[in-house]
Amino acid sequence: MTFTVAIDGPAAAGKGTISKAVAAHFGFAHLDTGLLYRAVGAKVLAGGAPADMALALDPVDLEDDSLRTPAVAQAASEVAVIPAVRSLLVDFQRKFAARAEGAVLDGRDIGTVICPDAQVKMFVTASAECRADRRYKELTGKGMDVTPEGVLADVKERDDRDRNRATAPLLPADDAVLLDTSDLTIEAAIARAVAIVETAKNAVG
Ligand code: CDP
Repeated sequence: MTFTVAIDGPAAAGKGTISKAVAAHFGFAHLDTGLLYRAVGAKVLAGGAPADMALALDPVDLEDDSLRTPAVAQAASEVAVIPAVRSLLVDFQRKFAARAEGAVLDGRDIGTVICPDAQVKMFVTASAECRADRRYKELTGKGMDVTPEGVLADVKERDDRDRNRATAPLLPADDAVLLDTSDLTIEAAIARAVAIVETAKNAVG
């Protein structure tokens, strides 16, 4: 039997860090599904047509540090509105979710659309200011030339687009556990997420 952990939430809420730590703790594979949309977005910025780029996506395209820039994040959220792009990426994500060793997928619609039967669903949030502050530190730590105001505007604009799109909008699944990380250290957030998964694993035996 497969075991899937779905972790959704708005931009820079800590999903990536939590997902990686949960995957490492339990020996599960991890897929950052935002990278799929970022890779398509980057190809569109380079002149490609969105659906063609989603169709031609290769897993090696995901291993590219330049996908982490704010410009690519914006392009990702723009292509993520397009239903054809989203549906072309479904199979890859579902196959990943079915990996024998167990899988953690993080994104926006994992618990609602991609893996509605996931054994664990979490919705990770934090205030927009808190998320922008963390993302600002992350980007400047990588040497990127960004301002706190610019990062906050980017986060709010993407959240707004992600929440209000018609297809697979950002929202918690009815059965998701909410994890607000605004006042938690990253260690505390990881410990909570690990405990949530542990409880679910024990329940399925
Ligand atoms: O790292 P961050 O939370 O800022 O963004 P990301 O997870 O890399 O996602 C980039 C963009 O891809 C988001 O703003 C969404 O528009 C889109 N996305 C999506 O629509 N569905 C997903 N499952 C994952 C990302």
